Amino acid sequence: MIIKDEASVTTAVLDAMSKAPDARLKELMSAFVRHMHAFAREVRLTEEEFEFAADFLNRIGQATNDKHNEAILFSDSIGFSTLVCLLNNGNAGATETASALLGPFWRMHSPNTQNGGSIVRCPTPGPALFATGRVTDPRGKPLQNAEVDVWHSSPVGMYENQDENQADMNLRGKFTTDAEGRMSFRSVKPAGYPVPTNGPVGQMLRAQQRHPYRPAHLHFLAFKPGFKTLITQVFVAGDEHLESDVVFGVTKDLIGDFRRHDAGTPPAADVKAPWYTLEFKLVMEPGEAKLPTPPIR
Ligand code: BEZ
Ligand code: FE
Repeated sequence: MIIKDEASVTTAVLDAMSKAPDARLKELMSAFVRHMHAFAREVRLTEEEFEFAADFLNRIGQATNDKHNEAILFSDSIGFSTLVCLLNNGNAGATETASALLGPFWRMHSPNTQNGGSIVRCPTPGPALFATGRVTDPRGKPLQNAEVDVWHSSPVGMYENQDENQADMNLRGKFTTDAEGRMSFRSVKPAGYPVPTNGPVGQMLRAQQRHPYRPAHLHFLAFKPGFKTLITQVFVAGDEHLESDVVFGVTKDLIGDFRRHDAGTPPAADVKAPWYTLEFKLVMEPGEAKLPTPPIR
């Protein structure tokens, strides 16, 4: 089609893509083109802004490697990952969901660890945490043999893959639920941390005068055949950034009860007060057990 004017280019592109045999590809791409074209018209996008955006996307790719995923970080920091998560869980967004965004730091092969075992794999600061999770179906029936992956950042503010001072797989572990659906582990109480700001996402946050912090949290991924894989986070109540999580990941249901203990008999001989305990629930909905593509290796 010979393009007559600004308006006809949209029709020409949609027409050119209309013969895609894959119906879903056609639906996705035509909506994408319609929205992108409408966006450019609404903001009257300038050529300089277009060049900046193309360079920004290129830099997102260049900042991505085996240990860091800037594309996921970008999607997280504009609320897109949480939107996709809420659209796909909790009855397609109709009800509160136990799911939360995966984030860029999940690794596939975290070490299998006995229930009650520690995921602290090298000296790591922070008060001891003893966590117990219970995995059930929506009616409260315990789910045995669910695999539960746990990962969190060190209280110095970095995941082990970002920090050469931490042992490989520090603060990561994989647990299997018992007959009561329980899993348990020892770690350190998580602290809030900034997302990486040395790439284009950091540039965007600074331009928007946004802080880069996530409130303190633990990540969980529960997997069991016959159930939808549950990806979630449990946040520390009272954290100063709960209301302003840079990646918009906090929902009411995900705020956990980390209890502080200052006295009494500690749960292990080497534990000094204060230590913390956490009990949490993971409710898995029936569905397809699928693992996400790991954002890093
Ligand atoms: C995380 O919690 O691991 C995370 C999520 C989104 C962006 C950066 C980090
Ligand atoms: Fe995290």
